[in-house]
Amino acid sequence: MAKKAFFVAGTDTDVGKTVVSAGLLQAANNLGLKTLALKPIAAGCEQTEEGLRNGDALLLQQTASQKLSYDQVNPIALEPPIAPHIAAQQLGRRLDADRIAALCRGAMMQPADFMIIEGAGGWRVPLNNRQTLADVPKQLKTPVILVVGMKLGCISHTLLTVEAIVKDGLRLAGWVANCVDPQMSCYQENLETLQSMLAAPLLGEVPYLDNVNPVDVAEHLNLSNLSLVNK
Ligand SMILES: Nc1ncnc2c1ncn2[C@@H]1O[C@H](COP(=O)(O)OP(=O)(O)OP(=O)(O)O)[C@@H](O)[C@H]1O
Ligand SMILES: [Mg+2]
Repeated sequence: MAKKAFFVAGTDTDVGKTVVSAGLLQAANNLGLKTLALKPIAAGCEQTEEGLRNGDALLLQQTASQKLSYDQVNPIALEPPIAPHIAAQQLGRRLDADRIAALCRGAMMQPADFMIIEGAGGWRVPLNNRQTLADVPKQLKTPVILVVGMKLGCISHTLLTVEAIVKDGLRLAGWVANCVDPQMSCYQENLETLQSMLAAPLLGEVPYLDNVNPVDVAEHLNLSNLSLVNK
């Protein structure tokens, strides 16, 4: 059974959820913890000889210390690189939060100390006309780690996302400031504003890296506020 599982959400698509998720896994591996990771739903998959494959899921599969099959890591792989419910519609498939949550629960039965479930896009990504991907962490009752893509506009995106997380009855366990824009003006002022407005701990500031990889990202993350290790 995974002891501590977290849902990794982002302020938007392309803000560094995968980069930070892999960094968090690596930081936990460095502490000697057993780690697991899922990307339950991925759009933008490539056809390979083994079947559809997604870069996010492959990186998480590779970085987690506990090995899962690709289909366990990413049970719903959609080829078109578009909003998942539209990709599913085009393929004549229907996405369902209950089914995705059940698939996650299955993987959560594996023994691990730290588990990451990476979302897709932002918090209210639709699965169908009635459900959004937020229904999955809601059903699983997993605390959330929010990746903030540090760029102009990120403060409002962060506050709206945190409001929605809390409204959904979930706990924000921590957040990460990820520098996706090396030219951002007033980075420090934006960071301080977020720090003063968010109650949850800042788990780290990841600088803009020329060579993004889990080992270097992990150096900027501090898991001590997630209470993973029993003291
Ligand atoms: N700290 C960083 N420094 C440099 N590049 C970064 C950094 N963080 C993210 N990137 C780059 O930004 C892009 C988006 O990052 P990533 O794939 O982690 O976003 P995401 O939120 O997981 O996106 P999706 O919604 O598609 O899952 C990638 O090309 C990644 O390498
Ligand atoms: Mg991703």
